[in-house]
Amino acid sequence: MATLFLMLFMSIFSTFIHAIPTSTNHGITRRSVTVGLSRNPAYAPNGPLQYSRALKKWGVAVPEDVGDVTNSFQGGETGDVNAASIMGDREYLSRVGFGTPFQYLNVDLDTGSADVWVYSSETKIKTPREDIFVVEKSSTAELINGTTWMITYGDGSFAWGHAFHDSIDIAGIPLHNAVVQSAVEVSQSLAADKDIDGIFGLAYNLHSQVIPKQPTVLEALKSHLAEPLFTADLRYHSDEGAYTFGYIDSDRHIGEIKYTPLLPNSTFWEFNFTGLHVVGHNYWYISQWRVIADTGTTLMLLSPDIVDMYYSAVPTARQDRALGGLWHYPCNTTLPDFEIGLENGWVATVPGKYINYTTLEDTPGHCMGGLQPFYSEDFGILGDIFLKAVYTVFDMAGGRIGFAHKDLEL
Ligand SMILES: *[C@@H]1O[C@H](CO)[C@@H](O)[C@H](O)[C@H]1NC(C)=O
Ligand SMILES: *[C@@H]1O[C@H](CO)[C@@H](O)[C@H](O)[C@H]1NC(C)=O
Ligand SMILES: *[C@@H]1O[C@H](CO)[C@@H](O)[C@H](O)[C@H]1NC(C)=O
Ligand SMILES: *[C@@H]1O[C@H](CO)[C@@H](O)[C@H](O)[C@H]1NC(C)=O
Ligand SMILES: *[C@@H]1O[C@H](CO)[C@@H](O)[C@H](O)[C@H]1NC(C)=O
Repeated sequence: MATLFLMLFMSIFSTFIHAIPTSTNHGITRRSVTVGLSRNPAYAPNGPLQYSRALKKWGVAVPEDVGDVTNSFQGGETGDVNAASIMGDREYLSRVGFGTPFQYLNVDLDTGSADVWVYSSETKIKTPREDIFVVEKSSTAELINGTTWMITYGDGSFAWGHAFHDSIDIAGIPLHNAVVQSAVEVSQSLAADKDIDGIFGLAYNLHSQVIPKQPTVLEALKSHLAEPLFTADLRYHSDEGAYTFGYIDSDRHIGEIKYTPLLPNSTFWEFNFTGLHVVGHNYWYISQWRVIADTGTTLMLLSPDIVDMYYSAVPTARQDRALGGLWHYPCNTTLPDFEIGLENGWVATVPGKYINYTTLEDTPGHCMGGLQPFYSEDFGILGDIFLKAVYTVFDMAGGRIGFAHKDLEL
């Protein structure tokens, strides 16, 4: 960590010293293991689409009042499940079983939502999908009478359906009578992502969209775990990431896990970070910024001032009005590392290499940053660009989130 020149409470709107970035890109070797997911490495992710999706997801996220979480019993289970990178880390997918016998689907474990929904034999879609939950083939599927759910986004895309009680295998831990949301209709813009068979919401204390209100899968899962926590270790361009449930995998992190409390009455995994620094530049900026740790968002979305500050350290970067204010730069640009500090003194380093997200189709030779501005709210989103640089512990009982360093060169 660089020497700290603490500019206490200095506003990040102020001017600051420009310097040539000193970070270097280390060649990262990666091993890859096939987990039965088909992927096309030649496909570039559509960065601007990821950006607009993230804004839409969070433009409509309305935190609801806190629900009752009652533990009827304590189980002692632990388990882990692979998190495979899809299309240059556009998303990470994990195999989760639904029904009896279990039908395994590739779902996105999403700490930024609370709904567990899948494409099913009930889903009316124009183009067929490879993997769906065939309700009729599950001997334990039971429609919960009178339930409906609907998820809508700002661009008019949506999914809706109803809910079943059925069994789930998450990380080898069987849950019976869990609430599984079956999609009846999914708008074409959502269904266009053929890799995702469903979403598995893991938000801290948020209700799902199911009406009337049903317990979330995370509430049900919590009582089965040896410890009421799960961890995420997402990996840069790799299939070797994993989520663990009920335990912390000490082989996946280095050094102590430092915890920071969630904000009061959080429904998301929401906390404040307190410092930031562009590596190679002199100053740390100290203030408080509200953020949500969201495995289901590709990008890191922070306030425009922070993002301006970061890219002002990149002389070739420019903000493109024609692309909704997206920041990009010539692909041969080496981006500086970005540091984010917590009140407890812990500092995360997001390598510049991770912030270089993807090529831009519309602007040949230009690449899009994984750090982009978030205008609509007073909080930011620490999506996968951030999370793959750290080991994260989502501690339900403690109402806190923990971070540790990890070996990024695996
Ligand atoms: C569900 O509703 C239908 C029709 O209203 C009714 O016939 C059936 O008994 C209900 N099932 C349960 C489990 O309540
Ligand atoms: C949290 O919820 C409690 C009880 O509903 C309320 O009294 C309190 O003001 C809330 N705190 C914040 C920071 O919103
Ligand atoms: C978190 O940061 C916000 C500013 O983004 C501030 O208003 C709030 O008081 C902070 N909360 C805590 C608990 O530090
Ligand atoms: C990047 O490419 C541009 C033109 O394509 C060139 O002018 C520039 O010198 C290159 N920069 C680096 C750091 O290689
Ligand atoms: C940035 O990422 C793009 C797309 O993955 C890649 O082609 C380019 O070489 C990267 N730039 C640097 C400087 O590593």
